Formats: sequence, C-alpha cells, structure tokens
Amino acid sequence: MRKRRVAVLISGAGSNMAALIDAGLAPDTAFEVVLAVSNIANAGGLAVAEAKGVAVQTIPHAAFGRDRAAHERAIDEALKAHGVEMVALAGYMRVLTPWLVGGWRGRMINIHPSLLPLYPGLDTHARALAAGDAEAGCTVHGVTEGVDEGPILGQVRVPVLHDDTPASLAERVKTAEHRLYPRVLHAVCNTLD
Ligand code: GRF
Repeated sequence: MRKRRVAVLISGAGSNMAALIDAGLAPDTAFEVVLAVSNIANAGGLAVAEAKGVAVQTIPHAAFGRDRAAHERAIDEALKAHGVEMVALAGYMRVLTPWLVGGWRGRMINIHPSLLPLYPGLDTHARALAAGDAEAGCTVHGVTEGVDEGPILGQVRVPVLHDDTPASLAERVKTAEHRLYPRVLHAVCNTLD
C-alpha cells in the first residue's frame, strides 16, 4: 500500500497534528504526514512536528498584509513542493478563500470540536454547556467554502457531566478528537484515486 502524503495546517498547539503524525507511522495506515504548515510563527505545534521528524514551514499571514490570495498561493506552493495529496486542517484559525478550497476540493478535511451542524465557529464548549446539552463531541468534515460546513465524514460523542466547565469538556472532546481524526483521514485516503 502506498501511503498518501498529507500536510497538516495548524495555528496552535498541534495536538491533533501530533495524533495524525503518530498514526501515520503505523505500517497499515493509508497516510503519512510529510509537512506541517503554520500561519503563526511561534505556534507550539511547529516544535512538536520538528521533534517528530516532520518538515515544517511557517507561512505567516501577517507577512502578506491584506493579500489573502498571495498568502494562500504561498501555502499552495508549499503543499505542491512536498508532493502533498491530502490536506488536514487541525486548529488552523484562518478562513480559507474559495480559491484554495476549490483547488483542494475532496482533498481537504477539517476537525471541529462540536457535533456539527451544532455550534460552528468558536466557543463551542461554552455554547454546548449554556444550552444544557447532555452530549458533546467532535466532527471531521470535508472543507467547503462555508465555515465548518461541508459533508460530515465522522463524529464521536462524549457525555457532558454535571460539573463540566468549558475547559473540562474541551479536554474530554480533545481526547475524542485524537481518536477520530486519524480514523477518518485513513478512511478518506483509502478512497482517493
Ligand atoms: C481542536 O479542538 C480542533 O477541533 C479545533 O481547534 C483545536 C485545535 O487543537 N479546530 P490542537 O492544536 O490540535 O491541539
């Protein structure tokens, strides 16, 4: 089996990225992470990727001012230079333009810490608690032009406990994210041409 070459786009700690890198090392996993790209120069995940022997590239959006298209062209060039076949967004905190989304259609997925279509956007855990939900969870979905929209590819549910805070719920959901994302990415890579 040929492993699909995956890039992970991050802006922060990169714990989902780390889960994907680790999963990709198993011989029977359909992918390997070959590149981590961050739009934030000192994102914690960069050192994590480096320590795991994955190529990293920092492409700060700030360096491009308001020119979103130029920033995304630079990302696209990096992806192509590394022979990337599939892109996993993992805490990448920029909305992508239709140009990059369109160019990677069917080959770009995202993880979101809620049971979509509930709670797209930010502060998902606080919103789930405020609503009195009995369950929370995470979703991996295909990336389309709308934020946190796109076909749902997999979900994991976790219970909400009576004394949960947004932080404690986030931690339980994060553990579920680390199980879900490698599983879905593996399945998607198995369906690629
Ligand atoms: C995760 O909760 C993910 O679902 C969301 O951003 C967070 C990133 O966390 N999109 P990490 O950087 O993977 O630790």
